[in-house]
Amino acid sequence: MLVDTFGRTATDLRVSLTDRCNLRCTYCMPAEGLPWLPKAELLTDDEIVRLVGVAVERLGVDEVRFTGGEPLVRPGVVDLVARVAALEPRPRISLTTNGIGLARLAPGLKAAGLDRVNVSLDTLDDAVFRKLTRRDRFADVVDGLAAAAGAGLTPVKVNSVLMRGINDAEAPHLLRWCLERGYELRFIEQMPLDAQHGWDRAEMITADEILAALEREFTLTPEGEQVRGAAPAETWLVDGGPGRVGVIASVTRPFCGACDRVRLTADGQVRTCLFAREESDLRAAVRSGAGDAELAERWRTAMLGKKRAAGIGEPDFVQPDRPMSAIGG
Ligand code: 5AD
Ligand code: SF4
Repeated sequence: MLVDTFGRTATDLRVSLTDRCNLRCTYCMPAEGLPWLPKAELLTDDEIVRLVGVAVERLGVDEVRFTGGEPLVRPGVVDLVARVAALEPRPRISLTTNGIGLARLAPGLKAAGLDRVNVSLDTLDDAVFRKLTRRDRFADVVDGLAAAAGAGLTPVKVNSVLMRGINDAEAPHLLRWCLERGYELRFIEQMPLDAQHGWDRAEMITADEILAALEREFTLTPEGEQVRGAAPAETWLVDGGPGRVGVIASVTRPFCGACDRVRLTADGQVRTCLFAREESDLRAAVRSGAGDAELAERWRTAMLGKKRAAGIGEPDFVQPDRPMSAIGG
C-alpha cells in the first residue's frame, strides 16, 4: 500500500495525461499558454498503463482519475480508459475535463469504461466565459455536459472557481442551473497554483462567502463528516434534497489529514500533493528497465516524503514550481 509517515493511505491516483489545454483560464495560465512539455518527456500510452497497473495491482489504488491540462486533448484517451478498465481489480475511473470534446467523446468514453466526469464551468454568461477562459467555447462546454449526462457518465459533477468581481455573483444561478439538469455542483476555492503567481489570499472568494450567498436563496443542510470521508468537498443538501452542493475549501478549511490522493504527472513524476515541492521520477525508472516490483518500491518510498499538510495559510508557504496545468488537478 501507499502509506505515508502520518498513517494516511493513498488509494486515489490522479494521472495527468497532458499539460496542454484548449482554454486559457485566467486563474490558471497566461494568454499565450505555457512552455509545454516536449513530447519525448511525456509518458507514452504504454508507460501510463504500466504505471497505473503497478498502482492498481500492487499498491492498493482503487480509483483512477485522468486530468490535465485538458485530458481530452490527448489523442488515444479513449483507448487509455479502456486499458485501465481492463486492469484487475478494476479501478473506478473518472476524468476531470473542461468539457470541450465531451460532446463528441462521451459515448466512446462510457463504452471504454469511464464511470464519471467532473466538468469545469465557472460561469453561465457567454461573455464572462470568453473573458475568463479567453476562448469562445461556452456552447461546447454546455453541449459536453449534456452529452456526459446522456451517456450515463453520472453523477455529472461541475466544478466552479469564483473570482471576485468577475463571476462571484453567479453562485446561486450556477447552483439552480445545475440542480435543474441533475448535475452536482462543487465550488472550489481558488488556490495558489497559477502559472503567473497572481493568486492573492485577500482577493479569493472564501467558502464562507459562497455559503452565505447560497443561503440567501436556498436552505442548506450539512451532510456531515460520514458522507465526506476522504473527499475534498464538504456537501450540503439543497432545500431538503435530493439535490446537493459541495464546497472544496482547500485554503480556508484544508482537509490534508484525510487525504487519500497521490498524483502522477504527464512526464512521469510522482507528486504526493498538489503543493509538494518534490517529485519522484518514475519515468526514468521505467525507461531504464525497472521491473514492476522496483517501480512499486520506488513509489512507496516517494510516499514517505508526503507532508502533513499543504500549509497554504502558513507564513512560510511557498507556491510549487509547477502550475496546476502541469501537475494535474
Ligand atoms: N484554484 C482552484 N481551482 C483551480 N482549477 C484550476 N486552477 C485552479 C486554481 N488555481 C480548477 C479547474 C478545474 C479543476 C481541475 O481545478 O477549474 O475545475
Ligand atoms: Fe485549461 Fe483547466 Fe487551466 Fe482552464 S483551468 S486553462 S480548462 S487546464
